[in-house]
Amino acid sequence: MDVENANCKIKVSQCADMEVLPIERPLKIDVEITGLEHMIGELHRVFSRDHVNVQDVQKLMAAYKSNPKDWSKFAKYDRFRYTRNLVDAGNGAFNIMILCWGPGHASAIHDHADSHCFMKLLSGSLDEVRYEWPETVQPEVLKVLNNNKSRRKCCSESQDLPDSVSELTIDTDSCQSDSCECDSCQKKRQNGRCQEERDDEERREDYGDDSEDEGYDVRDMKVRGRSRMELNDVCYINDALGLHRVENPSHVDGAVSLHLYCPPFDSCRVFDARTGKPTEVKVTFWSMYGKKIKRVLEANHAADSQ
Ligand code: SIN
Repeated sequence: MDVENANCKIKVSQCADMEVLPIERPLKIDVEITGLEHMIGELHRVFSRDHVNVQDVQKLMAAYKSNPKDWSKFAKYDRFRYTRNLVDAGNGAFNIMILCWGPGHASAIHDHADSHCFMKLLSGSLDEVRYEWPETVQPEVLKVLNNNKSRRKCCSESQDLPDSVSELTIDTDSCQSDSCECDSCQKKRQNGRCQEERDDEERREDYGDDSEDEGYDVRDMKVRGRSRMELNDVCYINDALGLHRVENPSHVDGAVSLHLYCPPFDSCRVFDARTGKPTEVKVTFWSMYGKKIKRVLEANHAADSQ
């Protein structure tokens, strides 16, 4: 199945076509969008179908050219942390929100609760930093991918998967065959332990015995990449693609981004950058439909704590 047909109406781990979701293709914008309301109307139309293509959503969001007149009524800032402002509840199939980032504001490293996340920059610049999943945590989507993979024959066939997927799978212990020739299995047979286990031991020696935090070793989360988003850029992430955090690199200017989540979620996990330890947090809104609501701290509080 082709990535254009990847269905974002359902959770990522339930997509039969999820193995192709990580493949990035150039987007050809062939729609004209005249304003934010028009884009939201089109998204409602698209999401009224059972099958929603990831690329169709990206195209609609890319086709809208940011105009502050459209969205300034939703853009409510807080001095201390970024705010989440609900714009549209998308009939329950998706939701759209505007996030306002003051100078230096950032989110915590987080997952996307098995949902699809689209993000568009409406004003300023933002840095998106992507991370690998900590080895101690496996998201639903990778469990399904690993399951599919272990049904195939050991390593040789797994090499048929797209690179971006096999990079993400926790590979070293999935080989069941004694005759497997992959590097990790060979080393394991030679040394009785795999390279990873020896690396672990070295790290523990480096950090000393008291480095463990309730079972989580000190082990900085691995950065996969960093990209700067500029006006009207759109990006897409789901749990198969890793984790991310977003930061406003400016010490002076604010930034505004528009996020679409499908299906919507009200909690996700944030990760300690130093140990990879996950914490479930509720995600809340600062305002809904342009009206400020009672302040609830949990989600943003956790975001600020890193
Ligand atoms: C982000 O992607 O960093 C924003 C997370 C959120 O929805 O609060």
